[in-house]
Amino acid sequence: MSPRPIIIDCDPGQDDAVALLMALASPEALKVLGVTCVAGNVPLERTQRNARRVCELAGRHDVPVFAGCPRPLLLPLGTAEAVHGQTGLDGSDLPEQSTMPLQDRHAVDFIIDTCLSAGENEVTLCPLGPLTNIAVAIVKAPQIVENIREIVFMGGAALGPGNRTPAAEFNIATDPHAAQIVMEAGAPLVMFGLDVTHTVITTPLRLEAIRNIGTRVSEAVGGMLSYYDRHDPERYGEPGAPLHDPCVIAWLLQPDLFRGKAVHVAVETNSPLTLGRTVADWWGVTNNPPNATVMDRADSDGFYALVIDRLSRL
Ligand code: RIB
Ligand code: CA
Repeated sequence: MSPRPIIIDCDPGQDDAVALLMALASPEALKVLGVTCVAGNVPLERTQRNARRVCELAGRHDVPVFAGCPRPLLLPLGTAEAVHGQTGLDGSDLPEQSTMPLQDRHAVDFIIDTCLSAGENEVTLCPLGPLTNIAVAIVKAPQIVENIREIVFMGGAALGPGNRTPAAEFNIATDPHAAQIVMEAGAPLVMFGLDVTHTVITTPLRLEAIRNIGTRVSEAVGGMLSYYDRHDPERYGEPGAPLHDPCVIAWLLQPDLFRGKAVHVAVETNSPLTLGRTVADWWGVTNNPPNATVMDRADSDGFYALVIDRLSRL
């Protein structure tokens, strides 16, 4: 079977970096058409540079990297240096600058051009940060939706609390208006929210197993994930940090690691109290047809076995 063509839209971020590495290590399964970057964890200048630094680490200078939107649609940009550090990849010992060129084309235009030149239901979009680029692409060229196979994204919280506010998860809270556009676009959605990402925790044993791969890549990832540890066992049930974004790539590679449910999901865009909340009709109490498969379970040991297997390939 030919590899699935994907575009990864991201805001690296240590967990974005691991997701990128896993995808780039799986050419037999995934054809990464391009990496598009958005402002989120850190400003765009950093996220686009970090994406190039990670592609370089993977030895994949062939993958084009594009800069996208530098801020959300309506809200001011709120970044997360407290979690990811000033560079967004703190803990890694990667060279500060990348030798890979940044593409001239805007990320939104790359997404549009790629989808328009593809066949029906051909391209999978994999957003790992705020959905600003995806939303602008859909608004600018709504006809791209028919050529999108799925939008498989990390974001939201269907059943549990948020992590940016009590109600909202960071990617959605950063740009709830973009998220609403994407949720309502009509493309098939697969949502990896905190409900499932909080079940894949990089515990000390798992971090040691990553470090024991003993390569340049594993050394860099070990440093990133050590920095990224939130030291909050009460929140996560065990020491370590959730490896959010790699869930998207892991599902593409090994879907049976996860379980989800087809439900209707909408985004709160008005209430100051719950702005950015992904409201899932989990028990079907409305007549709203399902628009997303929301993941709520993961085989965490199987997930980390896959993470280590793919990182070991680089
Ligand atoms: O809430 C977690 C998400 O926000 C992840 O994508 C992380 O990289 C940050 O972007
Ligand atoms: Ca991210």
